[in-house]
Amino acid sequence: MSANETPVLGPVLSAQHVTKQFRVAGGHITAVDDVSVDFHAGKVLAVVGESGSGKSTLARMLLRLMPVTSGTITYLGKDVTNISGRQLRAYWRDVQAVFQDPFASFNQFFTVGNMLSRSLKLADSSAESNDELIERCLGYVGLKPADALRKYPHQLSGGQRQRVMVARALMMNPKVLLADEATSMLDASLRVSVLNVLTDLRRELGLTVLFITHDIGQACYLADEVVVMEHGLVVERGTTDQVIFSPQNDYTKRLLADVPDLKGSLKSRR
Ligand SMILES: Nc1ncnc2c1ncn2[C@@H]1O[C@H](COP(=O)(O)OP(=O)(O)OP(=O)(O)O)[C@@H](O)[C@H]1O
Ligand SMILES: [Mg+2]
Repeated sequence: MSANETPVLGPVLSAQHVTKQFRVAGGHITAVDDVSVDFHAGKVLAVVGESGSGKSTLARMLLRLMPVTSGTITYLGKDVTNISGRQLRAYWRDVQAVFQDPFASFNQFFTVGNMLSRSLKLADSSAESNDELIERCLGYVGLKPADALRKYPHQLSGGQRQRVMVARALMMNPKVLLADEATSMLDASLRVSVLNVLTDLRRELGLTVLFITHDIGQACYLADEVVVMEHGLVVERGTTDQVIFSPQNDYTKRLLADVPDLKGSLKSRR
């Protein structure tokens, strides 16, 4: 199941009319409500919205970590909503994720080198090429393998830990990288460095990136397209320029009003 083997003209990954309801005391809540969104090859799509708007629930369904209540998820034109076993494992290699707290994903007793080679072994990668692959992927995220491989997680900064997690995801040669609040715990300068790593990867590796954030500033800095969610619904979508310069929805306008210097900083970047 690879984009190289299966040329598909449409989106790489797609959610069609996806809904998720959770049972809660006294009824249910609709965390994601009839959401359709397409992820195109080599593009960064940002999903932005305030806490509780349904971003992570949508991500978990796309990652096939949580079943949909209704709707369809397709990958390279194939329905993956209910795949299992070997097909699901292949899907999980192709669609990799990086989450908010990289510290939680580390075993504190393993060096970065141990952790990365164990991840590769678990994924059944061929043993001979592993060291080379690990070094290449650390290079992609701007870490010097000679330094990074020997380090324990507490010896890395938050930004470095997050880069190691991106490197781990890249080792699987994914087609899609999903980053759920992956830069939220970083301070401003480290955040920019991780955002720039993601931009470079999109350019160099043609990765399709799904970037989830509550921060419309980060979304617009990084993404080609922006989808805004509120209470489980998509309330706005468009190219980054459309969303910034001619937002249609009041909620989007409110989010944009919280980042007053956004237009200026984006104009100077382009
Ligand atoms: N397992 C669950 N059981 C019940 N309700 C849930 C569950 N997971 C999420 N929810 C609810 O679904 C809604 C959406 O949650 P979700 O985690 O997707 O939001 P989010 O946009 O990722 O928020 P944040 O920015 O805080 O990460 C929330 O109201 C949340 O309380
Ligand atoms: Mg979330």
